[in-house]
Amino acid sequence: MFGAISRRSVTGGALLLAAFLAADAAGIDDDLPDLKDQITRMASDVALELQEVCPPASPSDQAAFDRCRRSLFGDSALRRNLAPRLLWGRRNQDATAALDDTNLTQFAPDVITGLYLSLFMYSGEYSVEYVERERLYLIRLRAGFRNLLPPGQFPYPFWHEETKWSVYQAANSVLFWVNPKTAKIIIGQFTERGGNSPVVDTQPIWPKFDGKWMWMDKDGRIQPRVTLFDGLFRQDNPYLPELDSTYRTLALRMRDAQCDKCHVPNNPMPMRRLLLLHTPAHAAGEIARLLKTVLADKMPLDDAGNEEPLEPALKRALLESGAAFEVTVKAAKDWEAAHRE
Ligand code: HEC
Repeated sequence: MFGAISRRSVTGGALLLAAFLAADAAGIDDDLPDLKDQITRMASDVALELQEVCPPASPSDQAAFDRCRRSLFGDSALRRNLAPRLLWGRRNQDATAALDDTNLTQFAPDVITGLYLSLFMYSGEYSVEYVERERLYLIRLRAGFRNLLPPGQFPYPFWHEETKWSVYQAANSVLFWVNPKTAKIIIGQFTERGGNSPVVDTQPIWPKFDGKWMWMDKDGRIQPRVTLFDGLFRQDNPYLPELDSTYRTLALRMRDAQCDKCHVPNNPMPMRRLLLLHTPAHAAGEIARLLKTVLADKMPLDDAGNEEPLEPALKRALLESGAAFEVTVKAAKDWEAAHRE
């Protein structure tokens, strides 16, 4: 079924961040002290941890990647310092552009630690500064990207867009933007225009995108495996098969309800801040919001962007399959927490 999720043309509008940042800025209480010392300490802890668990290695080293993602996904310093919802994406090609004018995607901490930040390697070199224009602290980390892992280790084929993939492959820095009043990381970015060379040299590769965000491998398993928490949850987690099956049902209902017309990586109906729901991991990160939004008839939208109520039977089926998936995700995570080495 995933095979039929076809490529759609990129309409390429700007994903304005304004609403997100405005909400965040409104939450900043000017009477609260600026947490500069705490942020400086946090930057040092996070940089040291990243260098310990995700050090420079061969860009094809699966074991190094597994150790990195498992560590960050678990109880890490990085994770403890993330806001409950973050934005992630490339640094704007125009270096003078504000974050407001930069395309970014929303992620839950599970997804950004397990599937995105762990695709990078870190030397431990970092700097911290306050950026007046954004009213945020900026931590810059020297980094490099694991471009030679198998395709199923990426959350989706980043090479669907050549410029995106070329920036990933050549990345030399990961940037964290920090709210001065909460000391939490609210935005992550990557760039190939940081000060240093990448932490390891790599050969660029140019895989072909065949139009599928997810696919079946020759053993009939859903790919990318990483989106089924492969390598993040333990192999003997008893909920893995149920995670797979409840997601498949939910994906079918989301397809019936047309969610996949918009909530996919190429952002066909340009969203101010893209929300991805097209894999188990992405959907798991947003499942509570998904259910709330559908229950309140706020989604789906029609092509003009108006709310388009679902037929009652489909709405019920979508909510039921979403709830079953949510219960399974929670059970799988609880099991992991109880069986952590
Ligand atoms: C025609 C495009 C389109 C379709 C189809 C669509 N969405 Fe959305 N969705 C959007 C846009 C645009 C936004 C962000 C803007 C907004 O809040 O209205 C959004 C926002 C959301 C949000 C975040 C709401 C929040 O709390 O901020 C969720 C969750 C969501 N959609 C789920 C779904 C689900 C589930 C479906 C299928 C039943 C669906 N969407 C179908 C375009 C779409």
